[in-house]
Amino acid sequence: MPGNIKVTVCPDAQGVARKAAGVFAALLRSKPAAVIGLATGSTPEQTYAELARLHREEKLSLAKVSSFNLDEYWGLDGDHDQSYRHFMNTHLFNHVDIRPWNTCVLNGKAANPALECQAFETKILAAGGVDLWLLGIGGNGHIAFNEPGSPVDSRTRLVSLTPSTIAANSDGRFFKDPAEVPRCALSAGIGTIREARQLVLLATGPKKAAAIAAAAEGSFSPDCPASLLQDHPDCTFIVDREAAAGLKHPH
Ligand code: PGA
Repeated sequence: MPGNIKVTVCPDAQGVARKAAGVFAALLRSKPAAVIGLATGSTPEQTYAELARLHREEKLSLAKVSSFNLDEYWGLDGDHDQSYRHFMNTHLFNHVDIRPWNTCVLNGKAANPALECQAFETKILAAGGVDLWLLGIGGNGHIAFNEPGSPVDSRTRLVSLTPSTIAANSDGRFFKDPAEVPRCALSAGIGTIREARQLVLLATGPKKAAAIAAAAEGSFSPDCPASLLQDHPDCTFIVDREAAAGLKHPH
């Protein structure tokens, strides 16, 4: 039975970015010290560009915001050009007034991964929980690096990447060769993500259509990790027409 997920269909990827940035802007204008969750990957790049534009041209401020990122490759330090820390600096943090010390990205070179993950969870709790977490979705339905089979109550932990994720991230957009892609990552768990008060998941392009249909209209199952958001009280998918193509019901 399809759950509560609201789906907003935009004409194209630019429309998705504008809509998603608008959700963030509305939150920040009503709660300047909001705690936000962020994602990496190709999909949110335009949303971050739009947030940077809102900061530049419309005085949107992130000066009081705290942020938490979903995941980081295990074995890469933050200076590596494929690390998610580097991605966030390049695509968002360097272009807005967020304070670097208020941005939390898991350390892919931590001496003790279990302690690093536990500290991440503790910092989220100490910040009062996440108000709004932005998510992407893998072609296999993963959210963060919670691959199919991940439990609904999973917490932040060291995980292995599936071959399909390794292939997707070495198609030339990020890594050029599958051999370069780290095999493991630190990832917020599905239970961690589900505790955010609001969730916004973005998807664009035909490669995401099957995953979006399974997540929004398929069964509530770890086979499609994003379907485990169906019983969240405030979860919206913002997708373009291509990513919406597999949906059977109007949303
Ligand atoms: P993408 O990745 O935005 O690069 O497609 C999304 C994801 O795998 O979560």
